[in-house]
Amino acid sequence: MKEQHLLKQTLRAVVSGQQRAAQDVHRPAWHLAPPVGLMNDPNGFIHFQQRYHLCYQWNPLACAHGAKFWGQWSSADLVHWRHEPLALAPAEEYESHGCYSGSAVDDNGVLTLIYTGNVKFADGRTAWQCVARLNEHGEFDKLGPVLPLPEGYTGHVRDPKVWRHQEQWWMVLGAQDLRLQGKVLLLSSPDLQQWTLKGEMAGSGLNGLGPFGYMWECPDLFHLDGQDILVVCPQGLAAETHRYLNTFQSGWFSGELDYHTGRYQHGEFHELDHGFEFYAPQTTASEDGRRLLIGWMGIPDQDEFFQPTLEQGWIHTMTCPRELSWRQGKLYQQPARELRQLRSDPHLFAGAAHSLPELDIASAELMMKVDGGFSASFGGELQLSCDATGLTLTRSNRRTGETEHRYWLGEVNTLQILCDRSSVEIFINDGEAVMSARYFPGATPQLRLAGDGGLTLHHWRLQGCVIE
Ligand code: FRU
Repeated sequence: MKEQHLLKQTLRAVVSGQQRAAQDVHRPAWHLAPPVGLMNDPNGFIHFQQRYHLCYQWNPLACAHGAKFWGQWSSADLVHWRHEPLALAPAEEYESHGCYSGSAVDDNGVLTLIYTGNVKFADGRTAWQCVARLNEHGEFDKLGPVLPLPEGYTGHVRDPKVWRHQEQWWMVLGAQDLRLQGKVLLLSSPDLQQWTLKGEMAGSGLNGLGPFGYMWECPDLFHLDGQDILVVCPQGLAAETHRYLNTFQSGWFSGELDYHTGRYQHGEFHELDHGFEFYAPQTTASEDGRRLLIGWMGIPDQDEFFQPTLEQGWIHTMTCPRELSWRQGKLYQQPARELRQLRSDPHLFAGAAHSLPELDIASAELMMKVDGGFSASFGGELQLSCDATGLTLTRSNRRTGETEHRYWLGEVNTLQILCDRSSVEIFINDGEAVMSARYFPGATPQLRLAGDGGLTLHHWRLQGCVIE
């Protein structure tokens, strides 16, 4: 009964709001965004039977956080997407306050979701890790909870990411211990139903880390070129001059996971993105074995409700799909090569930055070789400056009006910049670092360049991608 009610309300929200959202000047041309309402984390990202599936945390009923649904898209090529049946609606008691984030696996030919049933009470909360399996109608049947709150943790236990290794299922799970320290738990299972806790794999105060946040969300563990990479979102790191400047962080550790002992020896924490908006990424293996990552181009509790798209009934977008590689001890991110299909209308410019023409950046890609300092204004709403110390991204805070900055420190040789109406993703030095940001320019934003630095610049218009 509750499910029917939620589905009827969702249908009304989509039918009545979709057109207005689609006509918004800030609506992306080729990034994924919710038809209406609020979208946050990517969930259940997987290549399954010739198609990529990507679900998303979704509140279709309001531009607010709350009892989340899982929306669902699929794509054969990461570029053209179609809507799939709603994957999960928070209809049951064990998920009364949301079907929170989780992942997907191919369980012997059955697409299977593992997610968090979030339950809030007047004086607290609990969380169940739950399973749902795809049926022949393309809908998910809920099997219910498979794991209650483990002993020794608060109600903040969520975001299971599951993978297969040596004839077993493995799970990393975000958690907060009773001393209010963020942790990642490691569990294993023969069948996705019976789970055994191996222990704390990483976290605040573990593996040589000092205090490192009160909660770790959205862990993801994968093997890449000899490294076991843990991607995770620690909450509660203090801001420093040039890093940890967003409300919450998202980053990676590299190391080696001993599956027998559950121990994970790892190096330092590195932020995955140095821009204003990036959080809760999830990875999967591509058809041809590349490691793909999609993030949420948003941050919880960071002035999100001052974005103007709220008035058009929708909020937030995903990042572009990125492919990861391990080079010289660093995790590199590049736009997935599939995105090159969107390029059209190439132009090449060369000369001092100030001598180059204004460029259309409504939906565009720029590839630049950089020789010296310069600055760039994106539609007058976002500024990038490049000098010998690195890059600074500047905008005016939508809530306070104050100028705010984000930094990347290092020598800049090349920049690849993807622009899509209200977002910019800047890939530095072939993917050594990324800066992502939302901004809200007019309908036909231009890039204006200034400074004496020399640029060789390729410009493409990017075609929109149809979401059917
Ligand atoms: C991260 C997060 C997750 C949670 C989900 C709820 O943005 O807080 O930890 O599962 O969002 O929407």
